[in-house]
Order: sequence, then C-alpha cells, then structure tokens
Amino acid sequence: MASPGSSRQTKPVHILFVGAGAVGCFYASRLHHPSENIFVSLTARSNYEAIATSGVTLETRSFGNYTFIPYAVFPSISAAVPNSSPPPSTTLTNPASSKAPPEDGWDYIIVTTKALPDRSDDAALIAPLVSSKSCVVLIQNGVGVEDPYRKRFPQTPIVSAVTVISAEQIRDGVVRQNRWTRISLGPYGSGLEGRRSRNGDGDGEEASEVVRRGGERTAELARWWTELGGLRDAETHTELELQTIRWHKLCINAAFNPTAVLSGGRGNAEQLEDGELRRHALGVMDEVWRAAPAVLGKPFPAHLASPERIVRSTERNAGARPSMLLDWEAGRPLELEVILGNPVRIARAAGVEMPRLQSLYALLRSMQAARERKKGREKL
Ligand SMILES: NC(=O)c1ccc[n+]([C@@H]2O[C@H](COP(=O)([O-])OP(=O)(O)OC[C@H]3O[C@@H](n4cnc5c(N)ncnc54)[C@H](OP(=O)(O)O)[C@@H]3O)[C@@H](O)[C@H]2O)c1
Repeated sequence: MASPGSSRQTKPVHILFVGAGAVGCFYASRLHHPSENIFVSLTARSNYEAIATSGVTLETRSFGNYTFIPYAVFPSISAAVPNSSPPPSTTLTNPASSKAPPEDGWDYIIVTTKALPDRSDDAALIAPLVSSKSCVVLIQNGVGVEDPYRKRFPQTPIVSAVTVISAEQIRDGVVRQNRWTRISLGPYGSGLEGRRSRNGDGDGEEASEVVRRGGERTAELARWWTELGGLRDAETHTELELQTIRWHKLCINAAFNPTAVLSGGRGNAEQLEDGELRRHALGVMDEVWRAAPAVLGKPFPAHLASPERIVRSTERNAGARPSMLLDWEAGRPLELEVILGNPVRIARAAGVEMPRLQSLYALLRSMQAARERKKGREKL
C-alpha cells in the first residue's frame, strides 16, 4: 500500500523472480526500486555465480546499458523459501548473495522460466514460496500455462502476462534486449473451462473474488512498471482479454517457431520466402483464427493483426530466429506443450480440431524424444 499523497510503499514489497533468464532479468530490472520500498530478488540456477558476483548486466535498446543488482539472489528455489533456510554462507562479493528471504514472505512470485510442463511441475516447485499474502505472476508464452498454478493455489491471485520482446541471455548474467517491451497483464480466475461450465459471462462468486484480487495486483504491477520502470506499453486487461491476447500470440508462435526447427533452421522472414512454407504459415494462423471463437466464446476482435498483417510485419523483421530454434540448436527442451499440445487439446475439448498444429506437435515431440534417446545411448 502506498501512503497518501505518495507512491512510495509504506511497507516493503518483496518480489521474487523464479527464472533469471532473458525475460526475467529484463522485467526484474525495471521493477526494482528500493527508494520506493520495492525490492526485487532473483532465483538463478546455472548463472547463479555470475549474478551473485556482479549482478545482471543489461544491454538494452530501450534503456541503454546498465547493471541491475537485485536485493537478493538465491541459487535455488528452496534457498528462497522464507524462514526455512539460513542466509547462504558465501565468499561472493555482492551483498545480494548473502541476504535471507523476507521473514514475512513474498508479495509477488514472478515465474519466468520456460514453460515446460512435460519436464517439470513448476507450480509444485514454487509451492513452498507461496503464502497467503502472495500473488503468482506468469510471464510465459503459450496457452494453458496458468492451469497447474490455479489447481495448486485455488485461493491465490494469479496474474497472467504475455510479453512481446526480443531478448536473450548472451552470457551468464548478461542480457540483451534487442527490441520491444510490451507486456500485457490480466488476472486469471478459473480459466475458460470454468467460464464455459458456469455457462454465463464468467465468474462465479469464488472465482470473482480471486479475479478481483488478481485485478488489483495486475493494476499495481502495471503502474510500477510504467511509472517507476519507464515501460511505455505495460497494459492491463480483463481475464478474457488477456486469454484472447495469448491465443492471438499463438498465431505467431505456432506458425513460425516449430517450422523453424522442422524446416532445417529457417528464421521467420526466411520461411515466408518459400511459397509452400508461406502457405503453411498462413494455414496455421488460419487454424488458430478459426479455433478462437470456440475456445474464447467470441472471435478475435478486429483491432488484432490479421494473418496477412502478421505476415507483412514478419517479412520486415529479417534475420530474427525464434527461440524454439535456438533451444533446438542448443539441445534444450522445447516449449511444445504450451505452444502446440495445449492448444490442440483445449480446442478439441471445445469441439474444434487443429490438424496442422497437431501434426507439428506429433512430429516435433517425436524428434525431441528421438534426440533424447540418442543422447542417452551416447552417455552409456
Ligand atoms: N526471450 C524472449 O525474447 C521472449 C519473448 C517473448 C516471450 N518469451 C517467453 O518468456 C519465457 C521465458 O523465456 P526466456 O527467453 O527468458 O528463457 P531463458 O532465457 O531460457 O530463461 C529461463 C530461465 O529460467 C531458469 N530456470 C528454469 N527452471 C528453473 C528452476 N527450477 N529454478 C531456477 N531457475 C530456473 C533457467 O535457468 P538455467 O539456465 O539453469 O536453465 C533460465 O535462466 C518463455 O515462456 C518464453 O517463451 C521469451
């Protein structure tokens, strides 16, 4: 809460990012304002040592170059659990590496891992961090990402966020933001399934309370990112609007990311130079377009870019290589479930088949499994 006449928080607000990669470090750095009583901490993993030693170096197009020293940095999720672990004993020089988690718990837990529900149950992993004062925020691509969190934390406000950004961690603890800063935020209640089963415009009583609290947290975060963090396009939405944005972003992610891998490494604009791949991209987008009304209860609104407009803007963005391709080339797991598997299953439950997405899903899942079997054999 802010004191009257000032935006400074009267009580310290403690925010933990789980996943100190490209998206996490960028948005964390725009939210950390000790002078306003807002303290941002990071849970790192492979890059812990680099961040604990020197903080995060940001090279950004929107805000120039700067160093972000978080309030605290933890080497694991369990190390960030309030009152359960002593402050890390460390020889690292940065004071952020020796701070304990806040005794009265985290106000916000912002999840910025890759969404890999087939690999790890991140909702279960963060459960010891979540208290009655916490809000869980998910900044991840895909659809259906919120469901495991809602099931595990029925009373906890959840903020769902979609970002349009191009960012990458170029070395441990060094994050480059190439372009864009858009973040769309909205509360998450019981999801579209819940809306449908209640047969009305949405929210039963219990859901509306959790959505109301999620809405307050949505507004608070957007205000801090805008007024303190300088983001020009932190936007707030209703639950349905935000889900519409998730499904609309799927047009881009489902059309270009899987195809980048299956086409042998072509970037988005490069795919469009090939007549058959262009037809395929438009076909995938069209499929999402046709599934949306069944899933969302109404068609995409007219102000959202049509497949043809998406194609034109993609053509202008020559050289961009989607993260799924980078993940494939680096041997990392792909966000297949949230970009392909969940949409296929959610649309099917709403009575619509998505055969192009289903084929992409089946092929890439099989390729990924074959690669892992091969890796396993090589290890023997
Ligand atoms: N990058 C972009 O431009 C962009 C744009 C729009 C949307 N997105 C979406 O944003 C989300 C995050 O993407 P990203 O690019 O930031 O990914 P990223 O750079 O790979 O960062 C993810 C981070 O999460 C960490 N992590 C994973 N599991 C963890 C755990 N259990 N404990 C602690 N840390 C853990 C990873 O650590 P390790 O290094 O140890 O694996 C990594 O540092 C994804 O859903 C992505 O699709 C990204």
